[in-house]
Amino acid sequence: MSEKIHIFDTTLRDGEQVPGCQLDTSEKVIIARQLELLGVDVIEAGFPISSPGDFRSVVEISKAVTHPIICALTRSVQKDIDVAAEALKYAKRGRIHTGIGVSDYHVKYKFNATREEIIERAVAAVKYARNYIDDVEFFAEDAGRADNVYLAQVVEAVIAAGATVVNIPDTTGYCLPADYAAKIRFLKENVSNIDQAIISVHCHNDLGMATANSIAGIQNGARQVEVTMNGIGERAGNTSLEEVAMIIKTHDMPFHTDIQSNKIYHLSQMVSRMMNMPIQPNKAIVGRNAYAHSSGIHQDGFLKNRENYEIIAPEDVGFPDSSIILTARSGKAALRHHLERLGYYPEQKVLVEVYERFLVMADAKKDVCDEDLIELMEGTEQESVIDILHVQVVCGQPIHAVATVELLYNGIAIRESATGNGPINAIIKAIDKIINEKVGFEEFLVQSMSKGSDDAGRIQVALSHEGKNYQGFGVDEDVVMGSVKAYVNALNKIPALKRNKQTARA
Ligand code: KIV
Ligand code: ZN
Repeated sequence: MSEKIHIFDTTLRDGEQVPGCQLDTSEKVIIARQLELLGVDVIEAGFPISSPGDFRSVVEISKAVTHPIICALTRSVQKDIDVAAEALKYAKRGRIHTGIGVSDYHVKYKFNATREEIIERAVAAVKYARNYIDDVEFFAEDAGRADNVYLAQVVEAVIAAGATVVNIPDTTGYCLPADYAAKIRFLKENVSNIDQAIISVHCHNDLGMATANSIAGIQNGARQVEVTMNGIGERAGNTSLEEVAMIIKTHDMPFHTDIQSNKIYHLSQMVSRMMNMPIQPNKAIVGRNAYAHSSGIHQDGFLKNRENYEIIAPEDVGFPDSSIILTARSGKAALRHHLERLGYYPEQKVLVEVYERFLVMADAKKDVCDEDLIELMEGTEQESVIDILHVQVVCGQPIHAVATVELLYNGIAIRESATGNGPINAIIKAIDKIINEKVGFEEFLVQSMSKGSDDAGRIQVALSHEGKNYQGFGVDEDVVMGSVKAYVNALNKIPALKRNKQTARA
């Protein structure tokens, strides 16, 4: 039977400790709501004693979120626990996460204490927290480097004191997967009351092993995993939520999570944007290149059957599309794939000719984008059927927009006017009068090419005609003109418009 692995998200606490990633309360609430939709079980919302901002965030997230447990971090200090309990008072289900260092480094050099004194402080903190709340998680900081026999004593004592979850952090990211697995197994086998608590794994990525260690912990008895979106976190970061969720989903394991994987990409992008933390292009699951195939052999195999080279369908994580990147190593199959996507359906002879020119272009550039392909195709097979001669539009409130357009259509200048609910709509209606052909509008996408209001806009349209799609692109500082160019660019690819030569009205 498949056992549930509880997802404890600490993006807003451990993740947010990264310099430059700080969020204000309202931003944290937005992310917390998205984490709830994603299906996490626990949201660690902050460390309330550390700052008024963290306190407020725990309060507001507690109010805003319904299903996940809201967790607040404390040291093994009474004042911390008092403040955390106060911050959690609106949580439908709250948890206090208290703890102390248990490696000999921490015992000696951080606390200048003995192992016995550390156990006493740990037990006292858990008991104190239990006076406030039934759900108390204990973290044994630097457990990764702690002596396993001593760690087992700590864990047994805090469970006896009332801890419901015991967190075994590899705080410094030091452990090897086999050693971390053995640590969790040791606790399972040697702590007499271990069945009264859930074991939680919390790994850092200093040696690139956070995810491997977390999975090893799960395979050896842990039932909660502490993660952050995009693996964000101090130094090299924490275990990444998306990696753990997709490993469990992709492999035939006796575990499941409640993560709605198709929402992963959206939240990953949101966290990256809000926290000013770009995602490395080759980041597993959510990186820009995670589903991009660039070598000719891979592209050919992928186009025959995507499972040849893809273990996760991009749509499973909400990723826009698998991309076949065009480089000098791409083959004709990849080139044809992109041309068809753009609405070009070249015969084999034309494809061979375009491919040769494509290779010259790809050698000169790092990769070849849609505009380059259009340039290649327009150069080879298209003489333009429609040219824009004149566009004039009047718009504003409360009047309708009125446009006058003059096109050179199959060599004949034609002028038409139309009204619309906005300038672009009016222009398109005027153009439609001129071409007199039934064309469907499938997509209209406007992107700013940089940040300012006076910068160029890139417009992409997709039209349908007689069951085929035709893409058009337009770039202009004026979004209205960019849209006209994109529309005309797509129309120019429709073969039927050439046939209309005879019917074009003067
Ligand atoms: O890495 C760590 O040990 C932690 C604890 C505070 C849980 O983040
Ligand atoms: Zn941590």
